[in-house]
Amino acid sequence: MAAKIIDGKAVAQQMQEEFKSEVRQLQEKEGITPGLTVVLVGEDPASQVYVKNKGLACQKVGIQSFEHRLPADTPEDELLKLVDRLNGDDRTHGILVQLPLPKHINEAKILNAIRPDKDVDGFHPVNVGKLMIGEADFLPCTPAGIQELLIRSGTQIEGADVVVVGRSNIVGKPIAMILCQKASGANATVTITHTRTRNMAEHTRRADILIVAAGRPKAITADMVKSGVTVIDVGVNRLPDKKLCGDVDFDGVKEVASAITPVPGGVGPMTITMLLKNTIKAARLLHKK
Ligand code: GUN
Repeated sequence: MAAKIIDGKAVAQQMQEEFKSEVRQLQEKEGITPGLTVVLVGEDPASQVYVKNKGLACQKVGIQSFEHRLPADTPEDELLKLVDRLNGDDRTHGILVQLPLPKHINEAKILNAIRPDKDVDGFHPVNVGKLMIGEADFLPCTPAGIQELLIRSGTQIEGADVVVVGRSNIVGKPIAMILCQKASGANATVTITHTRTRNMAEHTRRADILIVAAGRPKAITADMVKSGVTVIDVGVNRLPDKKLCGDVDFDGVKEVASAITPVPGGVGPMTITMLLKNTIKAARLLHKK
């Protein structure tokens, strides 16, 4: 039997409807309008699309959205000055500097300059540390979206064998940390695999939940998964025919899995949704509401 398709777009829409009324209430009762400022340096086409979509999603739920588009040759100290200004800007509750940054800018230096209580990406070392000890204010958006999809699709997480393919700071490491926490929606046994893993398929075949952020189309094929597995595909790859595809061979794997996320329409819409969630939370925390 073919797998159930986990519809991230539908879950995202439902959550965004909930945020719309939450934002309206914050405005009416507390006079607070959550605000997100996105900074884009350079002209990377994918980043331009992401930034546009983030702005549109904010508008949809009533979050104020501000954008700074800077030329690719912007000096590092100028970007630091902007971040500093946004740190002190009362209308900006969340700051997001779109990655990747141009090569001449030290990414870590910029991320470290963002006030941790406005760091809606959850990338600041303070927030990474808080996640590690189970006290996160802001979960990074893509991993948070993955956990939400697993919970809302009724996947058994507690006690499950989760295998993560990929060890990035944005997805692989944080999702592993989130799912092994002693908390509801977690309590899983987690393995992280990566490009130096010996015999990848031996690990992936053991997974009850397989989370793939490998950065390579068709990195996971049907022979590499167990019957009944739940597969979360984080990959976004542009094929020569311009079509989008994930890191999982969807057509093959869906015949073996019990549930699987599509690309597009799986994890992607959830990432933006969790950014909205973090921005509303930042506004509440900053105003102590
Ligand atoms: N580039 C790709 N994904 C992300 C993300 O989640 N946050 C930021 N800031 N940049 C990204």
